[in-house]
Amino acid sequence: NEKALPKEEGVDHTLSLLKEGYLFLANRRNTLNSKVFETRVLGKKAICLSGKEAAELFYDNKKFLRHGVVPERVIQTLFGKGGVQGLDGEEHTHRKKMFMSVMTKERLQQLADITGQQFAMAVDKWRSQEQVVLFEEMQLLLTKVACEWAGVPLSKDQIQKLSKDLTSLFETPAAVGPRNWGGRMSRNRIEKSLIELVEAIREEKVTVSADSILSIFATHRDLDNHLLDKHVVAVEILNILRPIVAVSIFVNFLALALHNYPEDRKKLETGDPAYAQMFIQEVRRFYPFFPFTGATTKESFTWKGYDFEEGTLTLLDLYGTNHDPDEWENPDKFLPERFKDWKESPFSFIPQGGGDFVMGHRCAGEWATVEILKVCLDYLVNKLTYTMPPQDLSYSMSDIPSIPKSKIILTNVEPKK
Ligand code: HEM
Repeated sequence: NEKALPKEEGVDHTLSLLKEGYLFLANRRNTLNSKVFETRVLGKKAICLSGKEAAELFYDNKKFLRHGVVPERVIQTLFGKGGVQGLDGEEHTHRKKMFMSVMTKERLQQLADITGQQFAMAVDKWRSQEQVVLFEEMQLLLTKVACEWAGVPLSKDQIQKLSKDLTSLFETPAAVGPRNWGGRMSRNRIEKSLIELVEAIREEKVTVSADSILSIFATHRDLDNHLLDKHVVAVEILNILRPIVAVSIFVNFLALALHNYPEDRKKLETGDPAYAQMFIQEVRRFYPFFPFTGATTKESFTWKGYDFEEGTLTLLDLYGTNHDPDEWENPDKFLPERFKDWKESPFSFIPQGGGDFVMGHRCAGEWATVEILKVCLDYLVNKLTYTMPPQDLSYSMSDIPSIPKSKIILTNVEPKK
């Protein structure tokens, strides 16, 4: 008893995707009243999925593949060629284990410590500034954190440039024309210098700590016991550096939430780590960041009576799943308490993807993200005083990625006595 997939008519809806951004999939889910439907984007038929059950389907490795899914404009900026995002099966699991092997408790603690040290130094600088543009300052701060944590050497005069280049990788994938090309140039520049670094390490012209993430990646062996192509090592090191700098977006939303929900801020001032954790989870659920992710069907199958043909592009709505009214009460309200008795599921709360870390494509850096955010939240609430002058704090639901328009301006920044 096959059913026809609810379908949006029309030749192509890429322009609507650009216009509606984070809400593109949810708007269609609502109009068609279905968590699985068909549309056309980027000149292709696409099946769109939303919600917990659909996410569980999407992360079934037997049904979906990642190879060849990501459009060139995104490869050339955000992801790079040959990285873990586009691998499948055993090759993916083996590479993903390399990533997860550096996400140990000790290393995450070290990441938190480095973030704290860099934050303290930044505050010293911010005190004497008339104003601080938090988004830009966090990019600089997190560039230093990322390089130190990964063991990538960084001289003082490289920080600004590298920080701009890393930021441009996650700001330009959805852009058209010159801005997208700018992102490509940034990627080429950083990859080139990382490739040279990997060569130097392999030829023992520079010594880096054998224990560093850089060295672990540079000496990693694939399933055939070969070293990775040096270009692929550069791409994977960038898969550590770039997203750490992208956490600056969540830090901006932390500051916005603190501003918009002063009652919650008061609760954070008690220093309760459980409440801080809930607040961070709610920031990651509530605000828009990564809109959706994609795969193609590995073989034909039927799900809930709907036909999925082999080779069909399939998009999973991450933002919409985090706001699914069947799963979340008052999904459009900011309520950290909802995480108090939350029945944990790897498929309903998916700001950084869902499913299993090693077997699937769930974000390797999810714990790292939360660690960084804990330190930043503690600084913003308990270790700093600041003023937020009048500014445009609105954010767009169509710009991907989205951030408050003012980029969060702070004045009178002082360490708390
Ligand atoms: C994958 C989001 C931070 C490393 C992903 C995916 C998303 C995501 C949505 C894809 C999930 C999928 O396609 O199924 C985010 C967000 C972050 C963040 C919103 C906040 C800034 C990080 C950090 C790191 C990291 C800090 C590393 C330190 C990765 C890697 C993958 C990934 C390596 C690819 C995993 C795979 O293909 O198996 N992330 N991420 N991410 N993320 Fe993150």
